[in-house]
Amino acid sequence: MVKGSFGYLDPEYFRRQQLTEKSDVYSFGVVLFEVLCARPALNATLPKEQVSLADWAINCQKRGTLDEIIDPHLKGTSINPECLKKFAETAEKCLSEHGLDRPSMGDVLWNLEFALQLHEHPDGERVVAEDIANDAYAMHNATLTTEEESSTANVPIDELNNSTAIFSQFVNRQGR
Ligand SMILES: *[C@@H]1O[C@H](CO)[C@@H](O)[C@H](O)[C@H]1NC(C)=O
Ligand SMILES: *[C@@H]1O[C@H](CO)[C@@H](O)[C@H](O)[C@H]1NC(C)=O
Ligand SMILES: *[C@@H]1O[C@H](CO)[C@@H](O)[C@H](O)[C@H]1NC(C)=O
Ligand SMILES: *[C@@H]1O[C@H](CO)[C@@H](O)[C@H](O)[C@H]1NC(C)=O
Repeated sequence: MVKGSFGYLDPEYFRRQQLTEKSDVYSFGVVLFEVLCARPALNATLPKEQVSLADWAINCQKRGTLDEIIDPHLKGTSINPECLKKFAETAEKCLSEHGLDRPSMGDVLWNLEFALQLHEHPDGERVVAEDIANDAYAMHNATLTTEEESSTANVPIDELNNSTAIFSQFVNRQGR
C-alpha cells in the first residue's frame, strides 16, 4: 500500500508502488519550493491548479513565471538573483517526473552549497566561489560510496538541526 503525506508524494512511487531513494529527493524538492514560495505543499482553498505546490511551481517554472509566486521577501536586493535561479533549478530537478532524472541527495547538497556561494560572493568573486564549490563537490564525489550516500542517517540529530554544521563539514576537507 502506498503511504506518505499528500503534497509530498513521489508520483512515480504512487504509480509503481516502489519506494526508491529518489522518492525522498522528490519530497525534498517540495520542501525546497515551500521555502522558496513561503506556502504549504497543499492549500485546498486556492484555485484548483494552485492547490498542489509541486504541480503549481513546476507549471510556473516551465512558463517562466516562477518569479510571480516566490516569497516577496526573497525578491529584490535581499538575495542574489543567480542564487535564486540555482535554488529554483535545483528544486525543479528534484521534482522530475522520473526518478532517474532526479539528482542524488549528494548533488542536491552540492547545488545548494553552490547557491549559497553565489549569494555570499559578489560577481567579482564568482570564480573563487565556483572553485570552492567544485572542489567540495569533487571531494564529496571522490569519497562517496553507496554506504555513505545514506550517511545523513548517522549524523547526530543536534548536527542535523544545524545546517551550517553540515555545510561546513561538506566544505572542510578534514570533515570527510
Ligand atoms: C491558503 O490560501 C488562502 C488563499 O490565498 C490564504 O488566505 C491562506 O492563508 C492560505 N493558507 C495557508 C496555510 O497558507
Ligand atoms: C563524479 O562522479 C561521477 C561518476 O563516478 C563522474 O562521472 C563525474 O565526472 C564526477 N564528477 C566530479 C566533479 O568529480
Ligand atoms: C533545533 O533548532 C530549533 C531552533 O533553534 C530549536 O528550537 C530545537 O530545539 C532544535 N532541535 C534540536 C533537536 O536540537
Ligand atoms: C552551527 O554549527 C556551526 C559550526 O559547527 C557553529 O559555529 C554554530 O555556532 C552552530 N549554530 C548553532 C545555532 O548551533
